Amino acid sequence: MKPRILVVDNDEGMVEMLARHLDQEGWDVTGLTSGAAARSALQRAELDVVLTDLVMEEVDGLALLREAQASASRPRVILMTAFGSLETAIEAMRQGAFDYLTKPFKLAQVGVAVRRALEDRQLREENRRLRAEVECRFGPDAVLGKSRAMQTVIEQVRAIAASDASVLLFGESGTGKELVARAIHWSSPRRDGPLVTVNCAAIPEALLESELFGHVKGAFTGADRRRRGLFVEANGGTLFLDEISELPMALQPKLLRALQERTVRPVGGDEETAVDFRVVSATNRDLPVVVREGKFREDLYYRLAVIPIRIPSLRERPDDIPLLAGHFIERTAKKLGKRLDGFSEDALTWLCAHRWPGNVRELENIVERAVTLAREPLVTVADLRTEFAAVTTETALRPTLTELVDGYVERVLAETKGDKGAAAKILGISVRTLQRRFKGE
Ligand SMILES: Nc1ncnc2c1ncn2[C@@H]1O[C@H](COP(=O)(O)OP(=O)(O)OP(=O)(O)O)[C@@H](O)[C@H]1O
Ligand SMILES: [Mg+2]
Repeated sequence: MKPRILVVDNDEGMVEMLARHLDQEGWDVTGLTSGAAARSALQRAELDVVLTDLVMEEVDGLALLREAQASASRPRVILMTAFGSLETAIEAMRQGAFDYLTKPFKLAQVGVAVRRALEDRQLREENRRLRAEVECRFGPDAVLGKSRAMQTVIEQVRAIAASDASVLLFGESGTGKELVARAIHWSSPRRDGPLVTVNCAAIPEALLESELFGHVKGAFTGADRRRRGLFVEANGGTLFLDEISELPMALQPKLLRALQERTVRPVGGDEETAVDFRVVSATNRDLPVVVREGKFREDLYYRLAVIPIRIPSLRERPDDIPLLAGHFIERTAKKLGKRLDGFSEDALTWLCAHRWPGNVRELENIVERAVTLAREPLVTVADLRTEFAAVTTETALRPTLTELVDGYVERVLAETKGDKGAAAKILGISVRTLQRRFKGE
């Protein structure tokens, strides 16, 4: 669709000239010679840019600006002013006009101004769309769970989102701590600010201090440029400190200080910078134990855990398994363009009986892989268990001996296309034993 431009001026010749010029740019241009007509056009039509004279009889440029701001399509407004009315033009900018052109101007200038306004509009629109998408993917609604335990977590997130208090998320690996950290950021007033994630275990100790607090130019060998540091980058937003238990002892006093003073000092610098941040941290370790072991400062622990939130393991909330598994099926099937209605009954039984040492992440991985293997319309227990036939080094996915045997038997049967005689021979067992296994006796 062509961008729609409205040109308004009491001077008919001016309107004609501008309209002709802008038309050549490939835009859909409407020219009007009265403010009143422009006002009703603004109420009726979807417009992208309004180019209007400031001083007009009856309805002037400022009135049109207000009308544009109240209209559904919220077009950008560019004002044309005669030399000498600069003050009014500035007032218009203050009230939200996008730009102004002082007469006399060159036609080329008008094209440039309109193009800038269109780009601004497009960018903002795209930004809005992206934010809505991110919010839906990472906001509180992304945390699924109908179990009592998870509902409590979701309620806690909503209750504490508005405050600036430090939150400590703890729970086993794969329970959804990062997901909850994002939900906190996206439901807080800081949502328009950045969410900066630091994995304390992934950054080498020697680099972590300057990563977090920044450094001045020449602070150490190789510091040929100043670095702002992640605290400063999180200004106005949220700093997510993941795997906080791995924060080196040497850095802990510095973090404590940053939390207390709300200022940071870059490595090699002697000036403190005030920073506005909220800290959410996460750990899959029992932090009080780490404190007792003398590897984590107690005072820092209390600073970080002003609001402690425990994310329950999947074992503690079996009610959530069908819901989560169903969500992962749907998502993966959509991505792969497969039509899957859900799980076969035995697959669902199997899912609910599994111990899930790797929690939601393990469930997610297994369902995703099962979906790639599954034949429409259902995911069967064999699709899920194939995982366990594969030798894996991931502890979370280590199969039990029975699962391993069953998986292998299934694979051999598949290879021999169900020929039990041939399969039994490969497996080194009798057909009778095989049949017993196969029936699951
Ligand atoms: N309640 C939930 N609803 C939907 N998806 C979830 C939920 N919990 C976890 N997941 C998904 O499971 C995966 C693991 O979650 P996440 O990375 O947040 O876990 P974690 O607790 O940070 O794990 P780790 O301790 O290993 O870092 C992610 O893909 C996440 O989207
Ligand atoms: Mg994590």
